[in-house]
Amino acid sequence: MAERLNGKVAIVTGAGRDGNIGVAICEAYLREGARVVGTDFRDDEREAIIARLAQVAPADAFHFLAHDVTSETDWARVAEQTQATFGGIDILVNNAGIAIHAGIEHCSLDDLRKVTAVNHDALFIGMKACLPALKQSVARFPGGGAIINNLSMASYMPSAINIGYHTSKAAGRMLTLCAAIEFGPMKIRVNSVHPGLTMTPLIREGLADYVKLGAYETVEAAEVSIAGMGPLGISSQPEDTAHAFVYLASEEARFVTGASIYHDGAIGQRY
Ligand SMILES: NC(=O)c1ccc[n+]([C@@H]2O[C@H](COP(=O)([O-])OP(=O)(O)OC[C@H]3O[C@@H](n4cnc5c(N)ncnc54)[C@H](O)[C@@H]3O)[C@@H](O)[C@H]2O)c1
Repeated sequence: MAERLNGKVAIVTGAGRDGNIGVAICEAYLREGARVVGTDFRDDEREAIIARLAQVAPADAFHFLAHDVTSETDWARVAEQTQATFGGIDILVNNAGIAIHAGIEHCSLDDLRKVTAVNHDALFIGMKACLPALKQSVARFPGGGAIINNLSMASYMPSAINIGYHTSKAAGRMLTLCAAIEFGPMKIRVNSVHPGLTMTPLIREGLADYVKLGAYETVEAAEVSIAGMGPLGISSQPEDTAHAFVYLASEEARFVTGASIYHDGAIGQRY
């Protein structure tokens, strides 16, 4: 079977932690023939990630760049280096995200701004920085460029104990829709994926915070309880989630823009 992303160039943020969704997207893209720049502001796992991904694709198909997604200067450098290395940008995946677990009563304005800076503002900066290159994608691929924002079921579910995360992810959804309308005539599609419970380091830490806040007895109990909110009663693995990003980046999705893929086992469909 033909590779679904053959020859495309992708930037994937938040790919600095093994076992997370960003690294799973990089791996899935490499398997489908893309060349990938994975970025993250932490680079302590850089060599291990590079070595593992070299087992699924030629070593020169993957580059890792240190990158703070809240910095315009960093975005300009990442966009420039990606084009210098691979000759363009066809796919931008805004995947980096953070959570600070507190409701309005206990969340400081500073913490709210920190979360919003990564989960919302960085999407804006990233799209702006990569736009000139993404506009050129249609000259290589009829479906044009693709931007995929990794949001969350938090975009459409309220929470009493996670104010910054839910409001920033909800704002990310409207940003995605606005960008889809603005960039459509430039042949750039903009879509979002809304993961539910996906077992990564971030989610394990988040569940541990919920235990500290007294919402659950243990991390395992939290996983079972949240998974049980959906009809399937299961959680997702990062590799499952990555499939949605492959589809949206591929030519198969050339008529798909402004779409929200609910990769949440219907846990988030109640609101
Ligand atoms: N795991 C889940 O259940 C779940 C559910 C819904 C949404 N999501 C979303 O999926 C995305 C990936 O989450 P994950 O579970 O793989 O978590 P993760 O913490 O493993 O991955 C997030 C990555 O973003 C990086 N990052 C954070 N701030 C950054 C910054 N300023 N600059 C650059 N990199 C930065 C982190 O270092 C980390 O590697 C996030 O946007 C998250 O909100 C995850």
